[in-house]
Amino acid sequence: MKDLAPHRHIDLKPFIDGAHVPTGNDAAVPTYDPATGEVLAQVPVADAALVDRAVKSAKAALKGAWAEITPAERGRILFRVAQAIRSRAEELATVESLDSGKPMREAKGDIETSARYFEYYAGMADKLQGDTIPLGKGFVSFTQHEPVGVTAHIIPWNFPLVTTTRGLAPALAAGATAVVKPAEQTPLTALMLGTILKDAGVPDGVVNIVCGTGATTGAPLVAHPDIAHVTFTGSVATGISVMRSAAEHVASVTMELGGKSPVVVLDDADQEAALEGTLKAIFTNAGQVCSAGSRLVIERGCADAFIEKLRARVRQIGIGRGIDDPGLGPIVSLQQLQKIDQIVTASIEAGAGLLEGGKILNPEGLGGWFYAPTLLKAAKADMPAVQEEIFGPVLTIQIADDFEHACELAECTRFGLVAGIYTADFSKAMRFGRSVSAGQVYINQYFAGGVETPFGGTKNSGFGREKGLEALRAYYAVKTITAKI
Ligand code: NAI
Ligand code: MG
Repeated sequence: MKDLAPHRHIDLKPFIDGAHVPTGNDAAVPTYDPATGEVLAQVPVADAALVDRAVKSAKAALKGAWAEITPAERGRILFRVAQAIRSRAEELATVESLDSGKPMREAKGDIETSARYFEYYAGMADKLQGDTIPLGKGFVSFTQHEPVGVTAHIIPWNFPLVTTTRGLAPALAAGATAVVKPAEQTPLTALMLGTILKDAGVPDGVVNIVCGTGATTGAPLVAHPDIAHVTFTGSVATGISVMRSAAEHVASVTMELGGKSPVVVLDDADQEAALEGTLKAIFTNAGQVCSAGSRLVIERGCADAFIEKLRARVRQIGIGRGIDDPGLGPIVSLQQLQKIDQIVTASIEAGAGLLEGGKILNPEGLGGWFYAPTLLKAAKADMPAVQEEIFGPVLTIQIADDFEHACELAECTRFGLVAGIYTADFSKAMRFGRSVSAGQVYINQYFAGGVETPFGGTKNSGFGREKGLEALRAYYAVKTITAKI
């Protein structure tokens, strides 16, 4: 068994103005090892008063230390953050795997992605330049990009460090400052980031990290009148309440709200590639992925053979604790486990055919929260497993009569995050890609793209774009200066 010590050295107190500070009371929220159900750490809660201190610190740094540094130097600091994350990759990955339950290989990938965010946006810090606007000889007019202000980052538990760095790196590159509220289920790697940023030369106050629940810490942060922009990733219901709160003081928002994304497989597709892609789409991080391909939409001609192969592969998936790098790790919390089981049960009652799995597992000697990899044949599009985001290792299967029917089924939910398609027909792939309601389309590879490719939703999956150059737009405001000369 691996050395599980790293998490014991983490300073769990809120990181405010460059230091971990005492909260002044005993309020704490436990974070668990989902594989065993044991408490890993009791994390002190930052209440509204501490959130206010964190926002004030970020506000002071916005016009102070961070504004004093040239954009080129800001970029160099962000490069150093990337290096520092890489130099602690093993330790960060171990803690991430332990706290969230995700398999080690995925945790390692997450840490590298986090480093990549800083590396990618570091190069943009000195390139956010404006335009000059021709108004004729009597005028001079130009735009400049100014940091949007103090930004709040509300982080979910499925990609703890990745989501934190996905928002922080472009925010800092644009000269904004930040207060981060990690998910209560997985706060540990974000807490480690405080000293990493400080050691890399990020001035005190530029990034503050406050832990607690949505009620104790997230809500007062979003409601704070000095927050100019909120970057939120999580559920639709919480996203709506965050938008309402941000609206009260006219803060802008980026909403990344999950999905129910289809993987369309046509008869003419490379069936092996489609099979690998389908497995990856739903079983990565035990399906706890906003962009998971959780609905297989398969053309009738290839369906039987494909489903047989899929079932055989699903039966082979090994289950275990993330730290031992199994095929499938645990579910992040008991609450989430129960949600998965409830939607699957309701769907079976509504007529879904259970092909594999469909139950809570209790692997020997572990005691944590595991769900069997599950395949459900969906008789109708209106069943809960097809319509609701499950956030678990559950794939629904819908059979399409032909390409047009597949396009129709791909659109049958209120979400619009990703749409994937496997086909050898370029024209069909393009017709699908251009017409489907989704923020991103993956053709012949699921989870295509990376840090460089803009990412976000349509419909109930939200709005605003993260990743790529697009993400920077949320973190600067354009000021137009026009003079009569
Ligand atoms: P959630 O949306 O309630 O939590 C996400 C973050 O928001 C956490 O940091 C939480 O503390 C914070 N939060 C909660 N209430 C808040 C409030 N009033 N103001 C400010 N911050 C608040 O999601 P939860 O309950 O953890 O998961 C429920 C479901 O949400 C999952 O089953 C899944 O379907 C979906 N989800 C989607 C994610 C995505 O990547 N789009 C990520 C996590 C969950
Ligand atoms: Mg945990």
